[in-house]
Amino acid sequence: MTDLTFAHTEAERLPAKDREAILDNPGFGDHFTDHMVSIAWTRDAGWHDAQVMPYGPIPMDPASSVLHYGQEIFEGLKAYRRADGSIVTFRPEENASRLNDSAARLALPELPVELFVEAVKRLVAVDAAWVPSGADQSLYVRPFMIADESFLGVRAAQRARFLVIASPSGPYFTGGIKPVSIWLSQDFSRAGHGGTGAAKCGGNYAASLLPQNLAAENGCQQVLFTDANSPDTIDELGGMNLFLVRDDKTLVTPALNGNILPGITRKSLIQLAKDRGYAVEERAVTVTEWREGVANGSITEAFACGTAAVITPIGQLKSPDFTIDFGDRAPGELTLSLREELTGIQYGTHEDRHGWLTEIPAVGAAV
Ligand code: PLP
Ligand code: COI
Repeated sequence: MTDLTFAHTEAERLPAKDREAILDNPGFGDHFTDHMVSIAWTRDAGWHDAQVMPYGPIPMDPASSVLHYGQEIFEGLKAYRRADGSIVTFRPEENASRLNDSAARLALPELPVELFVEAVKRLVAVDAAWVPSGADQSLYVRPFMIADESFLGVRAAQRARFLVIASPSGPYFTGGIKPVSIWLSQDFSRAGHGGTGAAKCGGNYAASLLPQNLAAENGCQQVLFTDANSPDTIDELGGMNLFLVRDDKTLVTPALNGNILPGITRKSLIQLAKDRGYAVEERAVTVTEWREGVANGSITEAFACGTAAVITPIGQLKSPDFTIDFGDRAPGELTLSLREELTGIQYGTHEDRHGWLTEIPAVGAAV
């Protein structure tokens, strides 16, 4: 509990039968629950006016700084419904602490970790009926922070708002656990030294949309970004981290070098792989190494990982000059088995031996 009191105004936005129709086939990020959380901040008053309120438009002055200079950060985590009906979230305090790292980089205010977790718990509890129960379904929770001071000078805003919305979701990539094709971005980088690559800010994603369009034009579902100064060195995908699997029980993944997002799925998989006795190398990884390793058989699998993507096998890396192809060897065995273990922990069929889950209390119970 934090000492900030949440005001609750509750209202069902959609009748139960419309909600059930959405939950049967939620898609990803297309529908929103009945409520949202809003907490205001000013430099003088700090965090105040915490509310669980009906989901809907927010007041926005046209001069709000987020609209002009992009002072915005966000998070993504999921709530899972287990077979016994209970609901859990996965490592929410990690998202809270990453939000604060992003806040520091974007000159936004930090939010106490327990306030972040309480906001998530309150929203999921009040909208528990929106947590789907189908295979691979979950409630995707999107906390975010915007600068909403009205002025046009270029400086850090002295007014901001933290909001949490939620969206019932199925798999990010449709079509089952099918290997995806990745487009190698050669003309555009996602991050440069000293930039915002390690922050989860809207601007990073805005910059990824043109290369993502190019990926789609080339028949690929995601784009792979490489280092701005060293185009052979892999950073990450537009919305996921990347792992290669070697035939000597080793996982290889780009190190957290300030350019890539420190993924919570990435961190969790490193732990699960080490638990199994795999070596994990966090270091500079190159496209050449990937290409040569697949050609000589020492690299046997590649996968993308993230909250939205979970663990998604990569079948191909395409560029105008070459294609690296796992053919019918994807999805790989370790990819599938790590996916099974991680989702098993989340949905309650595997033991939560690292204490990664936070239970959502029933509505009315103390948060
Ligand atoms: N990298 C980027 C650019 C992302 O947007 C995400 C998704 O949040 C990730 C990596 C994976 O992070 P996480 O596992 O915390 O969802
Ligand atoms: C997430 O996985 O939470 C993201 O923010 C990535 C995006 C592809 C939805």
